[in-house]
Amino acid sequence: MTVITCIDDLKRLHKRRTPKMFYDYAESGSYTEQTFRENTTDFAQIRLNQKVAVDMTGRSTQGSLLGKSHAMPLALAPVGLTGMQRADGEIKAAKAAEKFGVPFTLSTMSICSIEDVAENTNAPFWFQIYTLTDDDYNRKVLERARAAGCSALVITVDLQLLGQRHKDLKNGLTAPPKLTLPVMLDLATKWRWGLEMLGTKRRFFGNIVGHVESAADPSSLASWTAEKFDQALNWDRIKRLMDMWGGKVILKGILSPEDAELAAATGADAIIVSNHGGRQLDGALSSIRVLPSIVSAVGDKTEVWLDSGIRSGQDVLKALALGAKGVMIGRAYIHGLGAMGEPGVTRALEVIQKELDISMALTGEKRIEDLGRHNLLIPNGFF
Ligand code: FNR
Repeated sequence: MTVITCIDDLKRLHKRRTPKMFYDYAESGSYTEQTFRENTTDFAQIRLNQKVAVDMTGRSTQGSLLGKSHAMPLALAPVGLTGMQRADGEIKAAKAAEKFGVPFTLSTMSICSIEDVAENTNAPFWFQIYTLTDDDYNRKVLERARAAGCSALVITVDLQLLGQRHKDLKNGLTAPPKLTLPVMLDLATKWRWGLEMLGTKRRFFGNIVGHVESAADPSSLASWTAEKFDQALNWDRIKRLMDMWGGKVILKGILSPEDAELAAATGADAIIVSNHGGRQLDGALSSIRVLPSIVSAVGDKTEVWLDSGIRSGQDVLKALALGAKGVMIGRAYIHGLGAMGEPGVTRALEVIQKELDISMALTGEKRIEDLGRHNLLIPNGFF
């Protein structure tokens, strides 16, 4: 049996156990994948400052997001098609997050619906909405999220159209997969995935089905959404969506101090410095490289969080030490889910928490709030 000690172990198992089409969907970026790669290699350039002979007893990774305390200041990011990595994947990830004590975010493009997740969990989760042109859809889906008790809305602002991902085009990505010969040959070695999938009772794209006339073919639902991404989006539209929701809002996908100022001016409770995990503008800088300039610009006006590239507790420490109040992880938990289902997501969270705890101890810190630049060694000219 494989002993899981790090996120890379889960990634290897994810690749072995999940259809290539869906593993590639997760483990890819847009175009040349430069931004996708640099999200992780830039984290590696920042080093940690060891501190010895300080009392490290009584440590805690506890931290708060939107004024609520969690096991770590970390949330599971919205990830489309999570329910294709494993049957009922969104429910499994949400359950693991709930038991661990961190928030889960359900994507608009999830397989399981808002109601599926709500019925199978107790803790309130967050809902992520894409900015679509169809206000009737926006209003109805927000009503559903409110009725399900979702405690915050994540509005993704960096996807007015889809960044092109070569692997998805080459694989002919659809959900459910079309049973071509290469897909069937691939599934032959991943039959457990197929068996689980056959056992699920959920309707695919549960947040969209019902809004679309031609819902008989579930794979048409993704294209329905893609046609409705709001290419004319502006800050007034974002504000209108926020007003339609009326509760806590997190704006996701900010990469410059100028946009951060505009985002903070909307009154958002938090913003996420994010390049969508390198899936949108290839060539954009990594999130960690732009974080400090955004914290300086708006850190006193709103909570600044970060995602894109976090694969370890050391990465979490680096982001927090550079001023992020919280982080989100995407692939780190998706690898856990694809590898082992719900226990795999739990394992991913355990791995990251343990790495964070040990790294805090060895940098001489006991509390998340005390992390700062003094914990880091940053190469000249990095920012
Ligand atoms: C995403 N992401 C994303 N974001 C969003 O707002 N809605 C979505 O439906 C999706 N879907 C999605 C699918 C997959 C497969 C991935 C990997 C990512 C982006 C996600 O929320 C987050 O920003 C990144 O995953 C963060 O980067 P890391 O942690 O994966 O490096």
